[in-house]
Amino acid sequence: MSETFLLRGARILDPAQGYDAHGDLLIRDGRIYALGPDLAPTADAAVVTLPASWVLTPGFVDLHAHLREPGFEAKETIQSGAAAAARGGFTTICCMPNTQPVTDSAATIAYVRDRAKDAPARVRPIAAISKGEAGKELAEMAELAEAGAVAFSDDGRPVSSSRLMRSALAYAAPLGLPIVEHCQDEDLVGAGVMHEGAIATLLGLPGWPAAGEDVMLARDLALVRLTGAKYHAAHLSTAGAVALVRQAKREGLPVSAEVTPHHLLLTDAWVAGERSGPLADALAALGIAVPPGARYDTATKVNPPLRTTDDCAALLEGLRDGTIDAIATDHAPHTTVDKACEYADAAFGISGFETALASLLALVHAGRLELPTLVAALTVRPARAWNLDAGTLAPGAAADLTIFDPDEPWTVEPGRFASRGKNTPLAGLTLRGRVRQTWLGGRRVYDVGGEYPSF
Ligand code: DOR
Repeated sequence: MSETFLLRGARILDPAQGYDAHGDLLIRDGRIYALGPDLAPTADAAVVTLPASWVLTPGFVDLHAHLREPGFEAKETIQSGAAAAARGGFTTICCMPNTQPVTDSAATIAYVRDRAKDAPARVRPIAAISKGEAGKELAEMAELAEAGAVAFSDDGRPVSSSRLMRSALAYAAPLGLPIVEHCQDEDLVGAGVMHEGAIATLLGLPGWPAAGEDVMLARDLALVRLTGAKYHAAHLSTAGAVALVRQAKREGLPVSAEVTPHHLLLTDAWVAGERSGPLADALAALGIAVPPGARYDTATKVNPPLRTTDDCAALLEGLRDGTIDAIATDHAPHTTVDKACEYADAAFGISGFETALASLLALVHAGRLELPTLVAALTVRPARAWNLDAGTLAPGAAADLTIFDPDEPWTVEPGRFASRGKNTPLAGLTLRGRVRQTWLGGRRVYDVGGEYPSF
């Protein structure tokens, strides 16, 4: 089989190089060889002609995903998660350590890396900050970095102890890796299961105030000022958090942040079955019907919770002005049993890889977000935030590509997901925009027209 491919005809969009034009891409031996208009095919090149309406970008980079292995293989495995990532256009995925055992040892990092060897996405493990994510004692951070961890996080839980967080930042600084915080003041959030506000009151569900996020982020920023260490705020969900990160960046602190598609697009009204907010507005503007959802749909239960239209607007503004570096899925697959129960008892999380791009494109179609900004937030911006070798089509880079049709409509059918987690609040909705092909190291690992094994 030829190892040289010439992909021609699509709009090539690589924000890392400021490239946005119809053109050709030459791939040789798994790497980008050349990019430009009208490249001459070399004798050995297999020519792949793509429609002019399709967009070709660097493979997407996800700083936040849960692959569940080891320990929770009924929810997801590294293979099924990576297959879902490939279907969503993600080629580099950073996986969280809240596994069983927790990824807090070099042996578990090695296990994850070994299981990911032949996966259809590059899997980059994030190691735990504290042993067992128990928040008491630091994990062996230098050893974890040596084993290949790309960041440290106790995600799913905050580091509640200020003293422990200070030590974690101090140890991470010389390693050059970020500390990733799940910003949540557990004392204040208590048993909250959805955003604290009128809808939680009407539904009789315990609320989770926005301040529960802002307080923890403010504390952490004070500790970043103290230590000078690299810090990344996971899944921002509040307007207050956006303002805090903006201020921290103005001060020059080494801070980065991410937002999920669901926090940008959905609101707490979805918990009541009322589908209001940016996604519903954008789909309505496109003439796509958004039927009401079910009340207490546990697919809407996520940590941090879906918030208000004002929070969505602040998050979008933060993404546009660069306060928020990256869009990360927080892909959190669960079994049906984990979700088919009362709202208060259901697991937190949304299976996000396979709907991320299409849901986000609604903002582009509605004229609320520029396509180059969206692509940058899925490629070069996350890669630069964490110094990952990914996110560009520059010659010499690995040929990791995402090719999508920005207009193709499709209906979300979780039963067809590659992910074992079918938990999405978008089930049954029609979205516009679809990943057509994903390439990893010069190999096509997903093609919407092709046949794929299920894992
Ligand atoms: O909704 C969530 N689910 N948020 C988290 O922080 C953890 C995740 C999980 O592991 O299920």
